[in-house]
Amino acid sequence: MSSTSNEKIISLLNEALAQEYACFIRYSTHASCVKGPNSMPLRELLKEIAKDEWEHADMLRERVVSLGGQPTLQVEKIEYAEDFDEILKINMTEERDAITMYQEILRLVHEEKALLHDQLMHILADEFCHLEKLQRLQSHEEAAEVAPVLKQVKFKTKIA
Ligand SMILES: [Fe+2]
Ligand SMILES: [Fe+2]
Repeated sequence: MSSTSNEKIISLLNEALAQEYACFIRYSTHASCVKGPNSMPLRELLKEIAKDEWEHADMLRERVVSLGGQPTLQVEKIEYAEDFDEILKINMTEERDAITMYQEILRLVHEEKALLHDQLMHILADEFCHLEKLQRLQSHEEAAEVAPVLKQVKFKTKIA
């Protein structure tokens, strides 16, 4: 099995890091700006997810340094929104993109890099949870779609 170079992995982790910074800013901003009579549950959920995204960025920075790289200071493009439905739509799209991104990185990170592999699995599981929670606010039917996918995410070890 050929292993992917550290440089390639560092580059992918830095792309993910720029994405996580954007997610933190986007969720925090959407939480402050969301309007409407039913906006309170969404506001609380967005704040909760923003904290997770910040923790993901923290984990990625540590892994980049551990591999000998320099953590990026870049932030991906962010879409502004304040309408309830638009906020749900933007963030569900971003969560789906994050899931695809982490699944692609995990295909290149073999299990001998155990800490990195487990942390990426932990982040991936969080992204599935974020998507499911957003979908629950939107409709029960869509939430049912993500449940079978969630079962495929298994942890090798528990990350504190
Ligand atoms: Fe994240
Ligand atoms: Fe997320």
